[in-house]
Amino acid sequence: MMEIHFSLRNFLKNDFHLCDILKPIIKRLGGKIRKIKYFQKYIPRHDLYVEPFFGGGAVFWHLQPKHAIINDFDSLLINFLTQLRDHSDELLEKINNLIAIGNYHEQYYKFRKAMNEEKNLSNLDKAVIFFFINKLSYRGLMRFNQKNQFNTPFGHYKNFTHQITQEHVNLLRSTTILNQDYSQLLLQYDCKNTFFFLDPPYHNTNNNYYASAKFDEQDHKILAQNVKNIKNAKFLLTINKTPLTEELYRDFIIDKYSCSQAIFHGGAKNTILIGN
Ligand SMILES: C[S@@+](CC[C@H](N)C(=O)[O-])C[C@H]1O[C@@H](n2cnc3c(N)ncnc32)[C@H](O)[C@@H]1O
Repeated sequence: MMEIHFSLRNFLKNDFHLCDILKPIIKRLGGKIRKIKYFQKYIPRHDLYVEPFFGGGAVFWHLQPKHAIINDFDSLLINFLTQLRDHSDELLEKINNLIAIGNYHEQYYKFRKAMNEEKNLSNLDKAVIFFFINKLSYRGLMRFNQKNQFNTPFGHYKNFTHQITQEHVNLLRSTTILNQDYSQLLLQYDCKNTFFFLDPPYHNTNNNYYASAKFDEQDHKILAQNVKNIKNAKFLLTINKTPLTEELYRDFIIDKYSCSQAIFHGGAKNTILIGN
């Protein structure tokens, strides 16, 4: 059984609201912000927090780990986080200027075209465009056609603010940010006192996170094997309950929860929690 983690900070945060819990700054299909309450008690004490499928990173922002490694295969997402960490003033100035201009419908389609067609954008401009697209696309969805062109329509948002604070930037400054396949991290950081929080794409649902993304049945089988090979670290994995995932993780299921907001995951109401 996992050691239950009641750090002083969480105690203060939850009971006295002395420190602010940071909210995710990027919308992501499968984001865990409203689900943390179901699994927070399974997060063990750790020295190093590793999140190989970062997405919007709800758990990372919530916990604010002192030593962390975050990773995602989506290079546009990782470029955005890296630019925010390393060039926050320039990035926020550009974002705030664009917010002030308004006319989001027109700006959105201009950015969508640039994202698909412009080959020589700077990393800073790529980050600005990624952020706008993420905030203004229909439900934050990332959808690509067969030519790998991003084609999600505008979400018809009238108002647009962002929730990026200096605390977000400061936390990223003490964090290692990687853009690799998750499996490399499981091998490299499998040490005592490491905690892996694993929130992979769900099984049998739309996993169109980035151009040419796929996470199919075979990937789930490999993931389950990789997770079972973890020897020294602690891990917690969340995944939707399907016949395949129940079979793959049969001896490692520690709990489950249900949620009503199932539209985003193709009706995947039940989630199982896997841990060691
Ligand atoms: C369910 S989302 C994570 C959501 C996140 N926990 C949150 O709160 O927003 C899964 C993430 O895994 C990433 N991903 C998919 N395949 C990957 C791979 N092979 N290695 C690393 N990341 C991958 C996707 O880009 C996506 O951001």
